[in-house]
Amino acid sequence: MRKKIVAGNWKMNTTVSEGVELAKAVVARSAEVPANVGLIVAAPFTHLVCVADAVKGSKVEVSAQNCADHEKGAYTGEVAVNMLVSAGCTWTILGHSERRQYYGETDEKLVVKTRLALDAGLGVILCVGENLEQREAGEHFAVVKEQVENVLFHFTAEEMGRIVIAYEPVWAIGTGKTATAEQAEEIHACIRQVLAGKFGAQVAEDTTILYGGSCKPSNAKELFAQKDIDGGLIGGAALKADDFIQIALSF
Ligand code: 13P
Repeated sequence: MRKKIVAGNWKMNTTVSEGVELAKAVVARSAEVPANVGLIVAAPFTHLVCVADAVKGSKVEVSAQNCADHEKGAYTGEVAVNMLVSAGCTWTILGHSERRQYYGETDEKLVVKTRLALDAGLGVILCVGENLEQREAGEHFAVVKEQVENVLFHFTAEEMGRIVIAYEPVWAIGTGKTATAEQAEEIHACIRQVLAGKFGAQVAEDTTILYGGSCKPSNAKELFAQKDIDGGLIGGAALKADDFIQIALSF
């Protein structure tokens, strides 16, 4: 049975102390969340050590939002995968549309980063998703398929066991405009089909695929009821512990 996950992407929000408070508030309610639902908080780099400390002993895991594309050395301002591990992270998000759009993250770079992250022992939450123009042109299936192939086809079936995919239609991120459950489900099913073609039916069946984009307590239930939607990558609603937990209780 594949794992259900609700992950909060805090993006560039909260100070360190606010982040620690938020993490503690999530931990305080985490026991309400069923054992088969994983909880992850993706905090800014500056917060990771303190947030990892705040969640210690609970079921909440800590993720970074990005990592460097080099192992170490003269790359001013970058944060390497072994630093993330040493800070207490067990995951990193990679390929978020905001990084693709504003920081020139390419599929080629994502192959390098995913390789480094897996080799360091981190799990990877790889984000894919079409933008509005692509959706309106009817290219959404092709775009997502290509993103999945370009990155994940460089990895093995075994490595897929440590990779989670997050489908985040760019037009639904932070816009209040959620994909309908049907729109999300048909892309998730398509991703699973792409995985089956490359890695076999079992890997496709076992891979956790999250939905992200204006997911909130009021719509999580309908989204999570779809057979290929295994949870969510939550932005805005993850900044309120009660909303985040409410979403995690929506399976
Ligand atoms: P929102 O939930 O704020 O739309 O953000 C989604 C997202 O980008 C999570 O990574």
